Amino acid sequence: MSGLNAFPDLRLRRLRRTAGLRAMFDLEVPSPAKWCWPTFVVPGLGIKEEIASMPGQYRYSVDQLLPAVEAVVKQGIGSVLLFGQHDHAKDNGGSGAWDDHGPVQEAVRHLKRAFPELTVMTDVCLCAYTHHGHCAPLRPDGSLDNDAGCECLAKVALSHAAAGADVVAPSAMMDGQVAAIRTALSENQFDDTLLMAYSTKFCSGCYGPFRDAEQSAPQAVPGMPADRKGYQASYGNPRNALMESILDEQEGADILMVKPALFYLDMIRAVKEQTLLPVAAYNVSGEYSMLIATAERGWGDLRELVRESTLAMTRAGTDLIISYWASRYNEMFR
Ligand code: PBG
Ligand code: ZN
Repeated sequence: MSGLNAFPDLRLRRLRRTAGLRAMFDLEVPSPAKWCWPTFVVPGLGIKEEIASMPGQYRYSVDQLLPAVEAVVKQGIGSVLLFGQHDHAKDNGGSGAWDDHGPVQEAVRHLKRAFPELTVMTDVCLCAYTHHGHCAPLRPDGSLDNDAGCECLAKVALSHAAAGADVVAPSAMMDGQVAAIRTALSENQFDDTLLMAYSTKFCSGCYGPFRDAEQSAPQAVPGMPADRKGYQASYGNPRNALMESILDEQEGADILMVKPALFYLDMIRAVKEQTLLPVAAYNVSGEYSMLIATAERGWGDLRELVRESTLAMTRAGTDLIISYWASRYNEMFR
């Protein structure tokens, strides 16, 4: 190559030398409207307990959730994603999950009344409500009853939609769950309810703090190990994991998701290239807590780590960021 367009005339550092130039050309951190805050609702009154493995995140009873969400709404965050627990005895099918007066359903009603503009999403799964902690009922031999699971998940989604949820988000990774939920919603005139599929959800070591928060760890029972490897996607098989998202689109999902986010940036990009639907990335509990743990040991600066990892999701093509950092948006990004 000849001419001036080479070193020493060409110097790329010129474009990033000052803060003003960097701000001019850098991608921006997504505005808070493009963030969703996942949080935890428990039965009772006056409860706000910090989750030991997720500093800065709490379990709330409905009355305490309202002021917490108000603080999040004030920062401009566009949506919340609710996870629940119930004081009903856990059973094989997780029936507490479709109690119309469960904590999630009550929280949805209160939130929609208090913050009509807020988009309220609900996680649709059974693992916090089954006595074995798996995401679908088990047969007597310990095997997973996938299709019975889909029927239960459809009941949960209907119950959330009836309470006023704007978005239902099935996370159980059962085959056919999206179709079952979409059909149930359509048959019950919930044609405006959005369905966000946890479509490419991996079996990940990064869910540990969440399971602590939700008391939803899978148990070993005869015929079923204490893990979700037989239903969540295998990180060694990206083609199978990508097909999960393709199928969920065909089954009627409105939004696709990759989860976790930071360990799976390639999958965010791959899903994005396969669809015209919006793609969400779930920056999960372990990804949140590991940055805090690093910073607490003095091995990194928390704000820098949060900002750098957030831009990674954006570069990969994420449309909606589901992240515990949403509740700390001002602290991290302003
Ligand atoms: C339940 C569910 C899990 C998460 C979201 N929904 C845990 C799991 O699959 O065991 C993980 C969220 C997080 O780690 O932040 N199906
Ligand atoms: Zn589950």
